[in-house]
Amino acid sequence: MDNINPWNNIPLADYERHMEHQDVGQAKLLNHLTGKYLTKYNPENILFLGISGGNGFEHIDTDTAKSVCAIDINETYLEETWKRFGEKIKQLTLVSTDIGSSDVSCIKADFVWAALIFEYVEIEKCFEFIKHNTATNAKLIVTIQSNNGVQSVSQTGVESIKSVASIFKTVDKKNLQKTALSFGFECNGLEENFLPNGKSLLTYELTKKLI
Ligand SMILES: C[S@@+](CC[C@H](N)C(=O)[O-])C[C@H]1O[C@@H](n2cnc3c(N)ncnc32)[C@H](O)[C@@H]1O
Repeated sequence: MDNINPWNNIPLADYERHMEHQDVGQAKLLNHLTGKYLTKYNPENILFLGISGGNGFEHIDTDTAKSVCAIDINETYLEETWKRFGEKIKQLTLVSTDIGSSDVSCIKADFVWAALIFEYVEIEKCFEFIKHNTATNAKLIVTIQSNNGVQSVSQTGVESIKSVASIFKTVDKKNLQKTALSFGFECNGLEENFLPNGKSLLTYELTKKLI
């Protein structure tokens, strides 16, 4: 495991307290979006990137899903996710790896959930990882943060979360779409949801085509 990545030093309770803070409001919105897109596509083989504590996993249809693979760099997040969902989701495999350097191939997913991960991992590296772990026609749902002029990490009183500011970068929308296309992912939809602090989340629906 990479001990240098600041995500390895943030307790899950801190991260979740930050995301649930009334000024941030991201935990609730991400949970809602996870449910919305899982319901829309009702996938069989699901890949989650950067899952922290498994926010939204309760929306997985365990009757339909054949395999669910969830990735995070922080092993303690995965341990907690396992405690929360290991019993309920029998198809669940948790993999601790760095998406930015990993050549792991753990699933041929037909649905990928990638919420707030492109901010912390190079776009090309993310797509390399996704390419190795998806089937043709896979749906890829990417959520990125749009700051709309507001500072990147909100003040919630959670000190530890500030360390990820050193690796946070705002995702360039044009670069995201250009890189997606170069890896064979076509955009079929986009929605924007505003947060209490003036930031918004942009959610792209992409489909993997043969190239
Ligand atoms: C902002 S959170 C993602 C939000 C999460 N999907 C949710 O709904 O709350 C970023 C997550 O990605 C993980 N992460 C960051 N960099 C990573 C990397 N290089 N490889 C794998 N996981 C990473 C972090 O540990 C963290 O759990």
